[in-house]
Amino acid sequence: MRPRTADPPSGNPAPPDEIRTMFDRIAPIYDAMNTVMTAGLDARWRASAARACRLEPGQSAIDVACGTGGLTRALAAVVGPSGRVVGIDASGAMLRVARRRRASSASGRVEYVLGDALSLPAADDAFDAATIAFGLRNVADYECCVAELARVTRPGGRIVVLELATPERGLARVIASTWFERVVPTLGRLAGGGSAYGYLPASVRAYPEPRLVARLMAEAGLADVTWRRLRPGLVTLHVGRVA
Ligand SMILES: C[S@@+](CC[C@H](N)C(=O)[O-])C[C@H]1O[C@@H](n2cnc3c(N)ncnc32)[C@H](O)[C@@H]1O
Repeated sequence: MRPRTADPPSGNPAPPDEIRTMFDRIAPIYDAMNTVMTAGLDARWRASAARACRLEPGQSAIDVACGTGGLTRALAAVVGPSGRVVGIDASGAMLRVARRRRASSASGRVEYVLGDALSLPAADDAFDAATIAFGLRNVADYECCVAELARVTRPGGRIVVLELATPERGLARVIASTWFERVVPTLGRLAGGGSAYGYLPASVRAYPEPRLVARLMAEAGLADVTWRRLRPGLVTLHVGRVA
């Protein structure tokens, strides 16, 4: 008899308080570490996520686990001066950095709110789109988080999930695993981030594979769920529509 396949993990097992404290600690180095770790590609990936929302000028979006607000500002640029974007994060220190960063002058109104991705401080159907970038991997209940994104988005609006992923095969996989498993944790420690950058590859390994994330989104009631890898294969972009 073939062994039963283990159920995919339903959420990050680390205590949420520890995750928040870790992000509070690394907030001052977070943006610089991202640029170094991804050779600046992270900004392009967030721009792809913002485009995938298919927002029109004047519309609204919520960016959950917004951190220092990179995607929040990209969304604000898409919706323009008459639009509105709310960034939500559990870490006060990450939000303080976000509030210091200026959106471009042609951007929509941006507001940052302290809150939990598993119980969003927003009304049902309040936004035209919802995003989460490099955040879903960190929450204690993936399904609940996707359900919350769907709850606060109006019918027809899009849910976009950007997340790190292990490249499927070949040289990219070898380079990525050496870089993220060995070099990045050392760089992070040297930059003052303690063990946070050792947590990063472990959390990517523990995160469900892309087709399971797509299934989870469909099971949360989202329609037309699609996903693709963004070049060079280190991140996935999942998109679904609120039915
Ligand atoms: C890797 S950072 C991603 C930040 C940002 N989205 C980006 O693109 O860089 C993960 C963020 O998720 C936040 N976070 C983790 N668990 C959360 C939760 N339950 N509710 C809200 N934010 C959470 C952390 O505080 C952190 O700012």
